[in-house]
Amino acid sequence: MSFEKNILCIGAGYVGGPTMAMIAYKCPRYRVTVVDIDPERIAQWNSDDLPIYEPGLDEVVKAARGKNLFFSTEVETGIRESEIIFVSVNTPTKTFGAGAGMAADLQYWDKTARQIRKYSKSNKIIVEKSTLPVKTAQAMERILTSADNGIRFDVLSNPEFLAEGTAIRDLEDPDRVLIGSTQTPNGLKARDVLVEIYSNWIRGERIITSNIWSSELSKLVANAFLAQRISSINSISALCEKADADVEEVARAVGMDSRVGNKFLNASVGFGGSCFKKDILNLVYLCRYYDLKEVADYWEGVVRINDYQKERFILNMLNVMFNTLANKRICLFGFAFKADTGDTRESPAIFAAKRLIEERASVVITDPKALKNAMKDLRDVAGELSYVEDPYEASAGCSAIAVMTEWAIYADLDYKKIYRSMAKPAFIFDGRNILDHEKLFEIGFNVFPIGKPGLTHF
Ligand code: UDX
Repeated sequence: MSFEKNILCIGAGYVGGPTMAMIAYKCPRYRVTVVDIDPERIAQWNSDDLPIYEPGLDEVVKAARGKNLFFSTEVETGIRESEIIFVSVNTPTKTFGAGAGMAADLQYWDKTARQIRKYSKSNKIIVEKSTLPVKTAQAMERILTSADNGIRFDVLSNPEFLAEGTAIRDLEDPDRVLIGSTQTPNGLKARDVLVEIYSNWIRGERIITSNIWSSELSKLVANAFLAQRISSINSISALCEKADADVEEVARAVGMDSRVGNKFLNASVGFGGSCFKKDILNLVYLCRYYDLKEVADYWEGVVRINDYQKERFILNMLNVMFNTLANKRICLFGFAFKADTGDTRESPAIFAAKRLIEERASVVITDPKALKNAMKDLRDVAGELSYVEDPYEASAGCSAIAVMTEWAIYADLDYKKIYRSMAKPAFIFDGRNILDHEKLFEIGFNVFPIGKPGLTHF
């Protein structure tokens, strides 16, 4: 069967896999291939046990795989046979050399550009899906055209805004799709090809176009704004605890102003995830590069407050548990960076576990989906650590429970039973404000929510 378009995606990760599955599912007339250098990951995408967990992803992949959706390690063939190539390789924070700890590490992306140049025999549209520093498209174009072999490459920026846990919903019904292009006739023509692909299932007014630099920058800024809201409310949570105010009441009052809006105002033990910190640091690095010190400092404050919030949570535990945690068993309820995912990247729970071990506490970790990742994250940590799937068993004998992830199951446990099994006095630190604090207090716990005065029996 011949297909109307041949689309390739390089990189079968959290973004590339689900996004391409959705394009294939919505557009049976296109052939979509996803390639990755990691044969194990590709084997998983071809199996019943997909490498990532996302509600609804299995169904979408199963409906298209083998018909017009293919996963393969054949990068060279993939490049040769496609007209449109999405680049979705990872761009982690650099760990070495200039900009270490801040700038994006572009080595995989650079290598991919060179592969595309090497294997291309016909004109291509290249779509940046990875989150990249502004002006990367220009660098991509320079690498691609340096072979001077008469092949045309048009580079577009099309950042992905999906969030983990809701990827399928976000892809199916996105708030917006953003496509950035150069404003030349060829750039605009390439842009229209991508607009046409998304138009198969997304309404026209949701597909917005811009110049290529605005598009690249918008992704960093969108994540910086979201994280900024969390740091803003978290900073206020510290004040609420001192001033006998309740951060949820404050957030509700502030969020009902339609200019502010009520989303992303849940105070917490800190934000995690693979994007927020990485993208803000990338933005900060970019501002420093352009000598915009004040702007860089302003955005860096968002990360600083997040670090402060995580440390504050631990210091509060230390303080109220009589200034020593040594030899006390403390149970972390949840290890994932948010509920409904097994992902633990940048999870505040990693920081908490390490800090508690530094205080010589004995740490018990429970989580319905993330225990395997927790073990990996903490494998180099020397100290008393254990991993227990059942929250009742995990908390038995502990002096404190700290809620790190907002898993719904934690709100519905039998806390009377848990209280009976714990060492006394028993403490609960609710880092997500998901529990019924009054009720826990009545049972006998000393309760410390985020951004509300603690409830103690002393
Ligand atoms: C984020 C963006 O939402 C998404 O648009 C972008 O493409 C990638 O980064 P993700 O990292 O999957 O997505 O998670 P998100 O739901 O945004 O949560 C990030 C962190 O903030 C989590 O640790 C979450 O628990 C925390 N959070 C979120 C809060 O602490 N309070 C809130 O009110 C909201």
